[in-house]
Amino acid sequence: SVIRRGLVVVGTALALAPHAFAQAPIVIKFSHVVANDTPKGKAAEFFAKRAGELTKGRVKVEVYPNSQLYKDKEEMEALQLGSVQMLAPSLSKFAPLGVKEFEVFDLPFIFDDYNDLHKVTGGPVGAKLLKKLESRGITGLAYWDNGFKVMSANKPLRAVADYKGMKMRIQSSKVLDAQMRALGALPQVLAFSETYQALQTGVVDGTENPPSNLYTQKMHEVQKHVSVTNHGYLGYAVVVNKKFWDGLPGDIRTALSKAMTEATKVANDTAFNDNQDSLAKVKASGKTTVYSPTIGERFQLKKALVPVHKQLASRVGDETIQDIYNATG
Ligand code: LMR
Repeated sequence: SVIRRGLVVVGTALALAPHAFAQAPIVIKFSHVVANDTPKGKAAEFFAKRAGELTKGRVKVEVYPNSQLYKDKEEMEALQLGSVQMLAPSLSKFAPLGVKEFEVFDLPFIFDDYNDLHKVTGGPVGAKLLKKLESRGITGLAYWDNGFKVMSANKPLRAVADYKGMKMRIQSSKVLDAQMRALGALPQVLAFSETYQALQTGVVDGTENPPSNLYTQKMHEVQKHVSVTNHGYLGYAVVVNKKFWDGLPGDIRTALSKAMTEATKVANDTAFNDNQDSLAKVKASGKTTVYSPTIGERFQLKKALVPVHKQLASRVGDETIQDIYNATG
């Protein structure tokens, strides 16, 4: 009815009135390259919600998932230019900024499990690494977990010899390049957003991912075989443009730090199960054969890959590698 509609209009006007006089919120554009339904996607959404609540609407976080705004390399540049304020790139993506130490996280078999990893990301070694970003105009706020990687291709990858001559998509990390070469594979750097198509069209034969990324990008639909090698780790550093962060009012920064602490818990509490679920879904899809290497096969893989630590020490830094060995015992 006209009366009802009239009431709605008046009600809406009243509801909007206080905002009309309030200051415009501080907008934080948070860009990332994975799906919403991933540990990073969920944690970003959670952070956006809590940032709004804890600042009573003075901050509005806009999350742009799935490379909607920027691909891998572009998002780093956008952060430094201030076109976006926040990102959570994988740790493998910081070396192009000149902070090569971050590639230490890519070293195959450097962490046995999440427990080992958290001794680094939750301790002084992790904090020291984040500090190195400051000179690049970036402030590191937190580490967010994803998970341990599986290998995939259209043929079974069991023995080391199976990797020979395979074109494998990697992130832009020299450690990952060396890792694939140590297996006799041919690494190819591609943006995350381009990977599905490259696999589909045969530009590359295979890739490595935590199961959550493999599944949410539907890569299993174009990869007939997955090998649960858990040979390396992929996780994130949540970063902000330093100038933007330092310029925020102190109380806002405090509230956002609290929201970040809570969001970090969301990421890290969901990462393990999320990856387990994704692997189960890949299996259940019936499109991909999921293979768990035998102890012997995994040992051979480890034997082939651990020399990458020494080989890349001059790039990643002896001291950084030693720091990680010491932290993880
Ligand atoms: C990749 O490029 O494979 C990952 O860094 C994507 C991501 O953000 O998890």
